Amino acid sequence: IPFSSAQPAPTTPAFGARPEIAGAGMTALVEWVEELAALTEPAAVHWVDGSRAENEALLRAMVDEGKLIKLNPEWRPGSYLARSHPSDVARTEARTFIASENEQDAGPTNNWIAPTEIRGILNPLFQGSMRGRTMYVVPFSMGPVGGPLSHIGVQVTDSPYAVTSIGIMTRVGADVLREIAGGAHWVKTVHSVGAPLAPGQQDVAWPCNDEKYIVHFPDTLEVWSYGSGYGGNAILAKKCFALRIASVIGRDEGWLAEHMLLIRVIDPRGKAYHVAAAFPSACGKTNLAMLRPTIPGWRVETLGDDIAWLRPGEDGRLWAINPEAGFFGVAPGTGESTNVTAVETLWGNTIFTNVALRPDGDVWWEGLTDEPPAHLTDWEGNPWTPAMGRPAAHPNSRFTVSAAQCPQIADDWDAPQGVPLDAILFGGRRATNVPLVVEATDWTHGVFMGSNISSERTAAAEGTVGELRRDPFAMLPFCGYNMADYFGHWLKVGQKLRFDRAPRVFQVNWFRKGADGRFLWPGFGDNSRVVDWIIRRIEGQVPAVDSPIGRLPRTEDLNLEGIDVPQADLDELFAIDPVSWTREADLTEEFYSTFDGRVPAALQAELAALRYRLKVA
Ligand code: GDP
Ligand code: PGA
Ligand code: MN
Repeated sequence: IPFSSAQPAPTTPAFGARPEIAGAGMTALVEWVEELAALTEPAAVHWVDGSRAENEALLRAMVDEGKLIKLNPEWRPGSYLARSHPSDVARTEARTFIASENEQDAGPTNNWIAPTEIRGILNPLFQGSMRGRTMYVVPFSMGPVGGPLSHIGVQVTDSPYAVTSIGIMTRVGADVLREIAGGAHWVKTVHSVGAPLAPGQQDVAWPCNDEKYIVHFPDTLEVWSYGSGYGGNAILAKKCFALRIASVIGRDEGWLAEHMLLIRVIDPRGKAYHVAAAFPSACGKTNLAMLRPTIPGWRVETLGDDIAWLRPGEDGRLWAINPEAGFFGVAPGTGESTNVTAVETLWGNTIFTNVALRPDGDVWWEGLTDEPPAHLTDWEGNPWTPAMGRPAAHPNSRFTVSAAQCPQIADDWDAPQGVPLDAILFGGRRATNVPLVVEATDWTHGVFMGSNISSERTAAAEGTVGELRRDPFAMLPFCGYNMADYFGHWLKVGQKLRFDRAPRVFQVNWFRKGADGRFLWPGFGDNSRVVDWIIRRIEGQVPAVDSPIGRLPRTEDLNLEGIDVPQADLDELFAIDPVSWTREADLTEEFYSTFDGRVPAALQAELAALRYRLKVA
């Protein structure tokens, strides 16, 4: 290890050298790094400073080693394509564990494993796991460094691809180390692709291991990830820290870590509203975050597209920040006609993973353009033509790009105090039953709605695409503790809000289909029409119709100017079938019963009330 603490301080720090920052917190960090180096036996240790020069050197080295393809700078300056191993293409939920001391604290929705047992498995796996590789030490901040809602972490990783991704997705650098040196608490995250190199052994383009473990220790606030280099399995700041670990910190400190996009909506009079929305992976967060309203006079500014941290303020409002600094978005389906903002964001400085390569050195994926190019190299590196009848890009292929590059990013998107929320939306991908939009009667009813979100599975995680599964608050794979306790925590946070200042809660569903299998709602930019109704509800400008499941719009109150949605489709979009909803209530009861009596009584009462309303409907 070339940069041990015994070495004298160099006058100009060498590439990757540990910066000379004094402080008790720094000593603890150095000791931790030295312990990990002794365990994993890397060939070198590199302290990441987050500089542009360092990033460029890492990218250049990965191109030289065949780990990245540099895209044609004429079309896509500063951009690269990574192709993962075909077995390592999505978050692996079956290999994701919550290792709390007490099994009850993980709850029935998580894979629990005893901390001592899993440490006994992980230790031998990490022993020598970085041989022949460099161990990178990446200090990062979620939220602006030093902000009141921000939290710090350090990721140790042997994947330079992960380092460059973390550099885009978070704030990395020496100012984070200074916070640590000064005594700020930091979360320990350890990552290895699990592919040590023997002396002289040739590396592969995407090292990983068939054996994978993504393990969270909520009692000691640690994450250990082994065997995968992909997305949320490897960028530990994201789902592992900012959701699973942060949800535990939030439970203890009185705030919420949520799987939510965050936007500012500006109405034609120039009045601004803040909206957060929780949808499961690949169900439209990035799209709504970058909404371009199709109704005249409205504007949307992007604040975040995946994670929001919410904290009750002294003023009785709920304040939100986006703790990330970049977007890790689904590529397929992102195109001029759906999400032009994303397309513009991706003009350069982007890392693409598992998309297709064009002969001219640019990228392509399904949905980027209406017509596919005649010849491509597919995500696995094979020649591809449209006649082959299979997708050229992997359905979970991604772009990683800095938030600052988004043309409609809010000027104050990284304001440390965040923004006060006016509305919270819950949604999922539901072909049937769930209306386009429905309003909760109050906070408790809103929490009940959130606890009942279910959605058809997507390619964002392993599993059968299309299968319906419950995904409460879109947090099923991301809640770091007992989901029933989490429902209770939501109720508690609501009690800290001022009755007239709490955000209003709505459920939305862009994905309802007709009998012929086509989407009934045009979606995308036209979702602004739903947002418009939501804001007029907040302002008390439109009445709503009571239904057993909540308050529905009168279809004549939706602004449908300029689009043609047949009245039959509109009726179908808002149809509430008491029989299917009674079936939904049965499923809720079944789901609640898996929590050993831990579901809050207030939610059981909501369920009973729903059943009553369905019966008399
Ligand atoms: P995220 O993973 O939650 O951020 O989801 P994305 O915004 O990346 O969208 C995932 C997929 O859903 C993409 O294929 C989108 O094109 C599609 N999608 C997003 N919004 C809509 C919508 O309003 N209607 C329809 N039909 N599809 C949508
Ligand atoms: P997402 O997360 O599927 O919610 O976008 C991706 C990931 O963390 O791998
Ligand atoms: Mn997204």
